[in-house]
Amino acid sequence: MEKREKLYEGKAKIMYATDDADLVIQYFKDDATAFNAKKKGTIDEKGIMNNAISCKVFEFLGANGIPTHLVKKLSDREMLVKKVEIVPVEVIIRNRAAGSLCRNYGVQEGKILSRPIFEFCYKNDAFNDPLMNEDHVVGLGLATEKEVARMRELTMKVNELMKKFFLALNIELIDFKIEFGRFKGEIILADEVSPDTCRLWEVGTGVRLDKDRFRQDLGNIKEGYQEVLKRVTGK
Ligand code: TMP
Ligand code: ASP
Repeated sequence: MEKREKLYEGKAKIMYATDDADLVIQYFKDDATAFNAKKKGTIDEKGIMNNAISCKVFEFLGANGIPTHLVKKLSDREMLVKKVEIVPVEVIIRNRAAGSLCRNYGVQEGKILSRPIFEFCYKNDAFNDPLMNEDHVVGLGLATEKEVARMRELTMKVNELMKKFFLALNIELIDFKIEFGRFKGEIILADEVSPDTCRLWEVGTGVRLDKDRFRQDLGNIKEGYQEVLKRVTGK
């Protein structure tokens, strides 16, 4: 397999073509942004840690019946993935209140929600990734009704699986964002699952082990990612 031209550069990752039209390389950068890139920085070795964590999580989800784009880990910062057409919505699940839920609805941070809250946001930085409902997603032609139902079904399963996965590492999954793509007519999990895209609190202490350390200037940012990596890989 040969690495070819750069296809796309995002805030945290770069996609490269390969000599196989169905496969691309997802390269993880150290760049970090928050609040729609109003806040920018770098976190030393974040790309290496997020690649390793994402690979482990995708392997676990794949082994438990969730179709994902992961083919294999290629190197420290590179993951070989299926070339999908990304559905331009961010899918969020919240188990406890944090972040924008607290800001938008005046809820106390940490409040346990009586059932998981499922959200769609429009993946569009120019419009600040606005919250949208299923009618927006279908009506704007971003996904079909059938795809919306499939994304919801898969996301609920991913939540149950990831809650268990992290709890076994003494980490509580507070919320997360995932993205889906279309591959040969099927909806599959794409992008990444890492401390950039999940809120992860240590059980008992409530210590934040995720990108909120960067968003909120809590300090020891790299150490949070390292702690998650250590627990996820057992090293
Ligand atoms: P929020 O509380 O800021 O809406 O974030 C909810 C979850 O989604 C949290 O785990 C962080 C993640 N997230 C992303 O991965 N990318 C984003 O652009 C945003 C806004 C949130
Ligand atoms: N990654 C997003 C951004 O740049 C936000 C976030 O994760 O908080 O703006």
